[in-house]
Amino acid sequence: MISKETADALNAQVGHEFGASLQYVAISSYFNQEGLPELAHHFQLQADEERAHAMRIIQYIVDADAQLKIPSIPAPRAGFKSAEEAVKLSLDWEMKVTEQINGLMDLAIKQNEHLTRNFLEWFVNEQLEEVSSMDTLLRMIRRAGEQGLMFVESYLARKLHGGAVEAGA
Ligand SMILES: [Fe+2]
Ligand SMILES: [Fe+2]
Repeated sequence: MISKETADALNAQVGHEFGASLQYVAISSYFNQEGLPELAHHFQLQADEERAHAMRIIQYIVDADAQLKIPSIPAPRAGFKSAEEAVKLSLDWEMKVTEQINGLMDLAIKQNEHLTRNFLEWFVNEQLEEVSSMDTLLRMIRRAGEQGLMFVESYLARKLHGGAVEAGA
């Protein structure tokens, strides 16, 4: 139901999504070490989302009766100089994934593969959300500075747990 070229490109994207997931696990553990549990939690959730993206593509490959070939995943970067560096890396990653999704869409259009175009639509919209929220987080971190990261922590606590931030919440 899909071309060999599309199947190869989708398999490669499965690798990129799992790669993003591992990178966010590494960033989450960096924030844990730094005593910033809400940032750690936030990146754990991002890691889960990237894994879900990979699984969504895997399901499509299987449904389209193509062969799943998960590529080897490069080791994520470990160790960061600052929160800003870690979040800047994440934003760069999201920009790169946006280009990859656009490339997949270009391929589907070129091949007149309407099914794949329709499938990719969701990812095109998702990337707008991902880039925009990562960009907002980076701006907040830059504004707060390393000394003011607790402000970012309480913002995320409200966002992730809802309502007022209470002790033990
Ligand atoms: Fe993703
Ligand atoms: Fe993402």
